[in-house]
Amino acid sequence: MKRKDFPKKFEWGIASSAYQTEGAWNIDEKGPSIWDTFTNAKNFTEGNGNTATDFYHSYKEDILKIKDLNLSSFRFSISWSRIFPDGIGAPNPKGVAFYHAVIATCLEHKITPWVTLYHWDLPQKLEEKGGWTNREILHWFAHYVEFCSLEYGDKVKNWMVLNEPMSYVGLGYFLGEHAPGKTGLQNFLPAAHHTVLCQAIGGKILRKNNKNACIGTTFSCSQVTPKNILRRNLNAAKRLDALLNRFFIEPALGLGYPTESLPGLKKIEKYFKPGDEELMQFDFDFIGIQYYFRIVAHYSLFPPILFAKEIPATKRNVKTNTMGMEIYHKGLYKMLKKFSKYKGVKNIYITEAGTCLEDSLKNGTINDKERIKYFKKNFKQVLKAIDKGIKVKGYFIWTLVDNFEWAEGTKPRFGIIHNDFKTQERRFKRSALWFQKFLSKD
Ligand code: BGC
Repeated sequence: MKRKDFPKKFEWGIASSAYQTEGAWNIDEKGPSIWDTFTNAKNFTEGNGNTATDFYHSYKEDILKIKDLNLSSFRFSISWSRIFPDGIGAPNPKGVAFYHAVIATCLEHKITPWVTLYHWDLPQKLEEKGGWTNREILHWFAHYVEFCSLEYGDKVKNWMVLNEPMSYVGLGYFLGEHAPGKTGLQNFLPAAHHTVLCQAIGGKILRKNNKNACIGTTFSCSQVTPKNILRRNLNAAKRLDALLNRFFIEPALGLGYPTESLPGLKKIEKYFKPGDEELMQFDFDFIGIQYYFRIVAHYSLFPPILFAKEIPATKRNVKTNTMGMEIYHKGLYKMLKKFSKYKGVKNIYITEAGTCLEDSLKNGTINDKERIKYFKKNFKQVLKAIDKGIKVKGYFIWTLVDNFEWAEGTKPRFGIIHNDFKTQERRFKRSALWFQKFLSKD
């Protein structure tokens, strides 16, 4: 496989996020985020992101590595509480300066910055007022986006409003496995609805302030396969698909929530205010899809509302990564096809895809052959999609350096560069060297 097999303008990038990399959690007047609170709590056992990969201090070297790998784009997120320590109010000049420095370094090396406004690290001060469950977040978020778009808009063209709403609303406000650790439908439904509104509000503000901006938002997705063709299993898969793949994009496209497939979530309408159907919509220039695994589902009495359960990949005798996710490349093509069918979807970027493996160090190198295979197989699916006329415009590798993997701590290693978390020493894995060659233009 060669770079030349892809269209000339195909965007090759790498993705990361603020909490997983920056560290510097309490310096230079940064305010705490819900992830600082969550991981520093006594009952959290997987370490914390207080230092992470220390990107706050090593951004220059890391961006140089991106250049060295022949990648042309860098997707990173802004930490809301670094800019606004209390979530609202006056901006923190040191936080504002940090992102100017990151952007300037990218531009200096001809790396295009792609900025995500929200990758899960809500300011703690806002969570204390209810966070995503409080409708006031429409104003808090608008204030934050207004500021960022005016401050950085002359240097940044490509924006993503949210990172994977389903993940942070589902894991953080329903299952309690992620920050802020809330559970139940009474939290999930308002958090989901306010997220959908902010998704569109963010897009509209960026459009108003940045006429030439290319505006998107990102969605997690999973191919959902029924266990067999029994009707009850087919229907269970349909419900899971509506929740995992359709719930956050369809309202933006003017299709409303997919409650005809998920009647149990009709209660979300309780949180509607007049005009919300209109407010939820935004004409995005692109959508980002982030694909890691597929799901095999069957009917189950629990949980009620969904009446569906996943059969864990580890129980299905299939290939998995170190987080127990099934490695299933064909699902990437299926998802590209599925999302491209929406009339309102113009362009698609794969804004994240990668995998975590046992990366053992032997004779000073990490020979992650499996990761190279993983990417090659994914790229085949992308080429197939392009061949069928699907407008896939780029691929952002997840991720540059092994980082802090949320509730799993530093165990899962997704990077193409190995990180020693004690010394912050970076070491190119074999996959990084492969990319360097694959992307080289000579
Ligand atoms: C998230 C990343 C995360 C990755 C791997 C995505 O859902 O956006 O922050 O590290 O998956 O689990």
